[in-house]
Amino acid sequence: MTHVLGIETSCDETGVAVVADGQRIVAAEVASQIDIHARFGGVVPEIASRQHTECISQLVQAVIEEAQVRIDAVAATIGPGLMGSLLVGVSFAKALALSWDVPFVPVHHLEGHLFSAFLADPPPEFPFLALIVSGGHTCLVHCERPHHYQMLGTTRDDAVGESFDKVARLLDLPYPGGPSIQRAGAEGDDQAVTFPRPMTGKSDGLDFSYSGLKTAVLYELRDRGGVVADLAASFQAAAVDILLIKTRQAIEETGADRLVAAGGVAANRLLRERLTSELDIPVHVPPLSLCVDNGAMIAAAGHSRLMHGMAGDMRAAPTPNLPLS
Ligand code: KG4
Ligand code: ZN
Repeated sequence: MTHVLGIETSCDETGVAVVADGQRIVAAEVASQIDIHARFGGVVPEIASRQHTECISQLVQAVIEEAQVRIDAVAATIGPGLMGSLLVGVSFAKALALSWDVPFVPVHHLEGHLFSAFLADPPPEFPFLALIVSGGHTCLVHCERPHHYQMLGTTRDDAVGESFDKVARLLDLPYPGGPSIQRAGAEGDDQAVTFPRPMTGKSDGLDFSYSGLKTAVLYELRDRGGVVADLAASFQAAAVDILLIKTRQAIEETGADRLVAAGGVAANRLLRERLTSELDIPVHVPPLSLCVDNGAMIAAAGHSRLMHGMAGDMRAAPTPNLPLS
């Protein structure tokens, strides 16, 4: 059995986990900084990196003690993300790899999100179409085989998670916006306002645009006011609808017969329900705890890289805007 320690510090969660054979979580810890950043309404980079520095050694120690196994490789998120935050995880992972004399495995954050699906039962089989939706990314990716990705569409402006966060701020709901909009919207009428679904015409391709939707909420609020629950529900309906329209279009264009949805926004209840009930291909969505940033997804992706001879590059440096392919 191969055990990989995974470390995720690209944004505001310090995630550490040991995963066996890329599929089974042996031990995992996540220290969230949500409460610290919430009072600023979003992530403050300098505070994020300091928090990672403060808690990473305790988390690693806790996970190693709980796992009680020999570690075969140490994986860490190499990018994209906040430079200071990435540096903490990567430096720590390299130091551990050196002292244990095992390979260091750099992992792309979005590849980590993809591999969170392999921690669920049943794991997906390649090839598949992936919808990765998070605070920093909204993309459709054709995943031909492990570590070979073709970006089919991405956001032209705001990411979908970012739009949840920004709209939450407009509605005076707490950070992070996704869960608060879901909560507020649960009591609201999702047809109270018909918000636009920008760039969803067939000829618009597979790219996304979310900034117009956010602006539409801003104008609605400014011009007509309205009930927060209704605005939240109506915004969520539009945001999720856009994802469904684009995903359906990508399935048609690529003939994909399997979908993986991952990333923080894949924790959204409406999105999960619609993807699993409306598409006529198998849909793999990781459990809620593995949608938001965590160490296990990085360990799972790191395991696959290790198995494919893609580990051991000590020169790999944190890269804030690292592309996937
Ligand atoms: O993947 P993630 O933890 O971090 C990034 O890689 O960005 O995603 C965080 C994003 C945030 O924008 C948050 O508002 C959103 O995921 N999110 C949600 C939900 N839970 C988290 N968005 C919609 N509905 C949710 N339930
Ligand atoms: Zn993420």
